[in-house]
Amino acid sequence: MKKLLTTLFIFTLHLSAARADVGMWIPTLIGKNIAQMQAEGLRLSADDIYSANHASLKDAVVMFGGGCTGEIVSSDGLVLTNHHCGYQYIQQHSSVQHNYLANGFWAMSKAEELPCYEHHKLSVQLLNYIEDVTDIVLAQTDTIANADARSKTIRERISEIEHNRQASSKYTIAEVESFYGGNQYLLFVYTEYPDVRLVGTPPSEIGKFGGDTDNWVWPRHTGDFSIFRIYADKDNNPAEYSASNVPFHPKKHLRISTKGVAEGDFAMLIGYPGTTNLYATSTDIEATQNIINPKLIELRTAKLNVMNKYQAKSEKVNIQYAAKNAQTSNAWKKWKGEVSGLRKTQAIEKKRAFEAELRSKSALCDTLLSEYEAYYANSNTTQTLIAYSYWTEIVQRGGIEALQYAYTYYRNATDDDTQSNISFKDFDATLSEEMACAVWSVYCKNLPKQYWPKSMVAWKGSPESFIHSLYANSVFANENKFNKLRQSKHWASKITVDPAYTLLTEMLVVRDALLGQRKNINRNPKLANFNHNYIKALMQAYPDSIFPPDANFTMRISYGHVAGYDADDAVSYSYFTTFDGIIEKSQTNNPDYTIPQRLSDLYKQKAYLPYADPLDQKLHICFVSTCHTTGGNSGSPVLNANGELIGLNFDRAWNGVMSDMSYDPTICRNITLDIRYLLFIVDKYAGATHLIKEMLGEL
Ligand code: ARG
Ligand code: GLU
Repeated sequence: MKKLLTTLFIFTLHLSAARADVGMWIPTLIGKNIAQMQAEGLRLSADDIYSANHASLKDAVVMFGGGCTGEIVSSDGLVLTNHHCGYQYIQQHSSVQHNYLANGFWAMSKAEELPCYEHHKLSVQLLNYIEDVTDIVLAQTDTIANADARSKTIRERISEIEHNRQASSKYTIAEVESFYGGNQYLLFVYTEYPDVRLVGTPPSEIGKFGGDTDNWVWPRHTGDFSIFRIYADKDNNPAEYSASNVPFHPKKHLRISTKGVAEGDFAMLIGYPGTTNLYATSTDIEATQNIINPKLIELRTAKLNVMNKYQAKSEKVNIQYAAKNAQTSNAWKKWKGEVSGLRKTQAIEKKRAFEAELRSKSALCDTLLSEYEAYYANSNTTQTLIAYSYWTEIVQRGGIEALQYAYTYYRNATDDDTQSNISFKDFDATLSEEMACAVWSVYCKNLPKQYWPKSMVAWKGSPESFIHSLYANSVFANENKFNKLRQSKHWASKITVDPAYTLLTEMLVVRDALLGQRKNINRNPKLANFNHNYIKALMQAYPDSIFPPDANFTMRISYGHVAGYDADDAVSYSYFTTFDGIIEKSQTNNPDYTIPQRLSDLYKQKAYLPYADPLDQKLHICFVSTCHTTGGNSGSPVLNANGELIGLNFDRAWNGVMSDMSYDPTICRNITLDIRYLLFIVDKYAGATHLIKEMLGEL
């Protein structure tokens, strides 16, 4: 029997305090862990979780939109996910007249459910099967000495496999993903359902209660859920939105448990975690903690200050920038938590100690690690990393929105796959210009001229004046001018002389230079494929261990226990919060903690009693457990030992958000919305009893 790789994480593993497992395990390989899971309380078989032949839990879990998870809870395709996952779709349906963000929305019949195919198109994906294709992808690649040629061969084989499997239907998606730095390749085949409708959402005062103040924080009282429904054609096949589509009937839907959870209970989570970096070296951790995160935080602080200022002044702007602000502040705050968590748990020192042991075991690891350190010691390397992340922030994530629009236009014109609309619905020219000024001055301050676009190098004035001129003259910063141009003759050639478009082409030159530097590094035979070689050598050094794979947006299973934790000196947290806490928090002047009058009335009337915990007669709101999660796990079903739904995962607790790089089971906790709070809101707050019947059957 292989043992889990505890050595790698041994320094932080106080197993007696909290039994936990760092793994986000691959469903087809869960057989390796199942005995351990059963020993810890699970009453299901590996086949109940993932089966290629019959309906299993995995058939009730969906990839929701681009980066969240959801679960099917009825035979009519009803899907639960987080409020923050549904946010952009709720926002798209919101206006000053129908403000669903502020007031909530409940479809009282299927006819009232709102399609989500304009602006932000929503679809969900269901996983059909997983297949190991490592042997095909890597066959004889060890004999290819040239790193470029080797990765080209691998890429070609991957596209061929994907292409072959994809061919079966328009809605079949086949993706080959790399594991362990390219030492294993798995094929994932999905069916995509493009007609998904909004069924219900609480107002933000419930769904985003605690706002950005409580984000990434425990204790938590957020009703972070929204409800959607998958539609299909009359034969239950995927179809684009059509009024004649009907509710989708899934192979499997989750059963809900209203019995609640107790400390120490087994908990398990199935979902789509995005990115972890468990095999980061001490050098990587150092770079994140001391260089990359601080520089990114600085840039986003500048961006957020401007958004906050204008959103406070206007209701219209507040709605327009609601999702952009939430997205910007979410990672910003996480990066801060990551820095403090890495520091506090001495992640660098612990990793160094581990590497010392590893170096003594494996001469190859010793060499690889030394070469990697030398590469980082070069200041060019870190500067390149900063420039790279700033590029993404400014061009792709809308630091300078005019540039982001120009980039969308450029990609539409050059890449058939990425047709997305340029919509000015959520654009405010004044805010955008001031935000661009703030962001651009950080860029020019923190990066030397070699990373500046050509026209900035030539510019005589300040970074701000550069932006003023850009915004005054570009059609990408002015909706009327943009529309006018689009109606004129030869508009496509006129756009290529637009100042934002010109700046974009210069920024593309900057990006290519950065990519070139990376390539040079990869061509250096010593550093080529560092990850691949390092993880391979590490596995050889511990041949008896099972290694947890890093997250990569594929379906995973994490498990652990419901458990509170000791957060700081003299500070311990219990594992659940209650309705009392919402009422207490609401009595402050902080606008993040206002609640609807109706919610406090229901509290006074004790309308929650049918959903209260049998032990304390209180309504439980959220709980924490030791399941290892990351971004993408939002909305993931949290299941009890019987595989019944006990809650929706939506966050991690502050002291433990460094878990992507350095997981510590004593303080890393995932935060889950207790399913009974969701049911209470749907039933008593919204009066949507038809949904309760649909989820629970007749009461
Ligand atoms: N931190 C959670 C996640 O990473 C929730 C984010 C949404 N909430 C918010 N207040 N911005 O996505
Ligand atoms: N809120 C995160 C998400 O949207 C999940 C929390 C986390 O990062 O652990 O995916």
